[in-house]
Amino acid sequence: MVVESPQWRPRSLLIPPTPFIGREAELAEIAELLANPNCRFLTILGPGGMGKSRLALQTAVGHQTIFADGIAYASLASLDSSEFIVQALAEALNFTLASSPDPTSQLLNFLHQKEILLVLDNFEQLLDSVWVLAEILAQVSEAKILITSRQWLGLQEEWVFAVHGLPLPDECDDKGAEEDSSVLLFLHNVRRSRHSFMLTEANRAAIVRICHLVDGLPLGLELAASWVHSLSCAEIANEIERELDFLTVSTRNIAERQGSIRTVFDYSWQLLSPVEQQILKRLSLLDTSFSREIVETVAGVSPVQLLSLVDKSLIHRTDKIDTICLNCSGGL
Ligand SMILES: Nc1ncnc2c1ncn2[C@@H]1O[C@H](COP(=O)(O)OP(=O)(O)OP(=O)(O)O)[C@@H](O)[C@H]1O
Ligand SMILES: [Mg+2]
Repeated sequence: MVVESPQWRPRSLLIPPTPFIGREAELAEIAELLANPNCRFLTILGPGGMGKSRLALQTAVGHQTIFADGIAYASLASLDSSEFIVQALAEALNFTLASSPDPTSQLLNFLHQKEILLVLDNFEQLLDSVWVLAEILAQVSEAKILITSRQWLGLQEEWVFAVHGLPLPDECDDKGAEEDSSVLLFLHNVRRSRHSFMLTEANRAAIVRICHLVDGLPLGLELAASWVHSLSCAEIANEIERELDFLTVSTRNIAERQGSIRTVFDYSWQLLSPVEQQILKRLSLLDTSFSREIVETVAGVSPVQLLSLVDKSLIHRTDKIDTICLNCSGGL
């Protein structure tokens, strides 16, 4: 039996190391989904480095007073086995598991009648433990779960919110760009080492090019900005264009799995089956975007196979009818 102190609160949320930029529309849409009584399990889905974790954390901060029992946040990136999922949830909930009964019963017992938002960050490598989440949803009717993952979890209760790159500046406009989140994120990171750095007529085109080359990917922008102490913006853009492996960084407290675009891609690659890896290789020979017809006739990829890559955030459909885009073209 779990003994709970009368002043029980979940663990405090992490404090992010850098300010949060943009994503107003995404935060509003996620808040709307979480307010919907039918949506009790929401996955923020997207490729590595897209800003899923930051979006989830920012959502958690904004919801602390909305759920009567608060938010429990668990960062699962370092868990490589489903065995420890219940322990990780217990730690986030700030309670100690006893030796009996079994840990899952203790967790469910503890959550009983709690109006709480569980935020589980980086779930993709723990797909074997989705049954724990299904149990929570089935037995704790007041709890909601927000997940971040590079891969769709595939539960019946799951709603999905797909995250894409930050808004990009107009390549043809030689005046604006200051307002676009991708530029703001780049500038913020540059100013950490060059405090008085400004967007000027001289560097605008190169900065706009960098934002487009990384397609608004926040991690790509951070890694590109880390080079400004030794290269000009035009040189950084040229290097990225030449080889995406250029996007690597030596900042000490960046997680190793996000230390370069290559590492981010390798991690997602390992989550694919050998057949999916072959299909992705074939698609990468086509272009960065293509129609479904081309995919089927030229690359011989069936709709089911295509769907498995969408579920793993390696390709996505664009708003343009029947157009599919690779999320990782530079990584191959
Ligand atoms: N809106 C934002 N404002 C400021 N920084 C951001 C924003 N979005 C992302 N970042 C930064 O970009 C980097 C990548 O973001 P994040 O870790 O959230 O990506 P992710 O999608 O969770 O990646 P992964 O799949 O590898 O876990 C981080 O250093 C993060 O702080
Ligand atoms: Mg993450």
